[in-house]
Amino acid sequence: MAAPDRAPELRIATPAPEHAGEMLTVQRAAYVTEAQRYHAPGIPPLRETVQEIRADLAGVGPALVARAAWLGPRLVGSVRGRADGAAMEVVRFTVAPDVQGGGVGRALLQALHAAAPASVGLFWLVTGSRSDDNLRFYGAAGYRATGTVVDDAGVQLVRMERARDPEPPQP
Ligand SMILES: CC(C)(COP(=O)(O)OP(=O)(O)OC[C@H]1O[C@@H](n2cnc3c(N)ncnc32)[C@H](O)[C@@H]1OP(=O)(O)O)[C@@H](O)C(=O)NCCC(=O)NCCS
Repeated sequence: MAAPDRAPELRIATPAPEHAGEMLTVQRAAYVTEAQRYHAPGIPPLRETVQEIRADLAGVGPALVARAAWLGPRLVGSVRGRADGAAMEVVRFTVAPDVQGGGVGRALLQALHAAAPASVGLFWLVTGSRSDDNLRFYGAAGYRATGTVVDDAGVQLVRMERARDPEPPQP
């Protein structure tokens, strides 16, 4: 009798430069929906090249934190954080369309928050002002809107910020 199918386990780790191609594939698939929503095919995440992602991943350290999520062997999402002093910008946060809504994004964002260097006290990001799912997602993750900006593709964005959680007391 065949063994019952088990859902593959979610694993979150630091991606290496050789994961750049898979990350770009997922990123493009995930951001197409946003590009269609705003009739803006030139949004920055869709213009990013595999070389640029590879260079980011070759330079991970205190200023650039990256996390990717795998379900079994398949890379299904990633996120990067760029630290500048006490603030870290969350960028390129993507989950493959067919697994969105299953908790992978929440786990990735938590992993990024936890991996930020100790100097970081604030996380911030921008998201589309009409992207209700994203606004709800970030609100549930503790982010609050602090202003609006227009990007170079002409899309109106909301800036959101969240303070870092205090460290739990050491036993
Ligand atoms: C935003 C994103 C990374 C979230 O990842 P995810 O794995 O879908 O998120 P989770 O499953 O952990 O969380 C689901 C929650 O997020 C919200 N959500 C955001 N986008 C969603 C989507 N496309 N499908 C389903 N839920 C979505 C839902 O409101 C849901 O809240 P609920 O649990 O109260 O119903 C992912 O949807 C994505 O890649 N979107 C396209 C690219 C993008 O817009 N990135 C962010 C740019 S700022």
